[in-house]
Amino acid sequence: MLKIAVLVSGGGTNLQALIDAQKAGQIVGGEIACVIASKPGVYALERASKAGIPTEVLVRKEYPTMEDYDNALIGTLERYGIDLIVLAGFMTIISDHVIRKYTNRMINIHPSLIPSFCGEGFYGLRVHEAALQKGVKVTGATVHFVNEICDGGPIILQKAVAVEQDDTPETLQRRVMEQAEWKILPQAVSLYCQGKLTVKDDHVLIAK
Ligand code: GRF
Repeated sequence: MLKIAVLVSGGGTNLQALIDAQKAGQIVGGEIACVIASKPGVYALERASKAGIPTEVLVRKEYPTMEDYDNALIGTLERYGIDLIVLAGFMTIISDHVIRKYTNRMINIHPSLIPSFCGEGFYGLRVHEAALQKGVKVTGATVHFVNEICDGGPIILQKAVAVEQDDTPETLQRRVMEQAEWKILPQAVSLYCQGKLTVKDDHVLIAK
């Protein structure tokens, strides 16, 4: 069983999708070993506790330097023997040092079809505002490995979602979550835990 850490900063609906998938036996070969939040009191922590998953809180500004924070994060991950890190709405910047240490062992969910509407500044509702402003007819979500480029790592899974004419950023965000994020994140985690993902030349190959 691979051990998974889910890193969160907010409501944790993607964490919930992972918890539900785990309960349904859909995370093959892995289990959520801990949930790490970037601030206390976020609802994701309650979701973890309700599911009996250990929680940790690591607040960046409580550490004098990035190095101190990195050491705390790595120390926590090592204490739980973590094999896979899942960023599920995690809002604290992760240093290149940590990213390199967990190359091809850290994945992120982004609420657009990368390379559209991604990179610096594209987070939360801003992503959906930009999609509506451009007038795209299709958007979606992407699960990718994390590398040093913001939203630039090898793509694991993507799922498209239709944009409706009367969408607001909020309605579009909800549809992207329901129809794409909550589906492809557990799928990608399960594929990873079954050893079905290989990264070659920055491309992800999925074993059948
Ligand atoms: C999601 O839209 C995810 O794609 C993005 O942050 C949001 C987190 O939402 N990276 P939640 O906390 O999982 O509800």
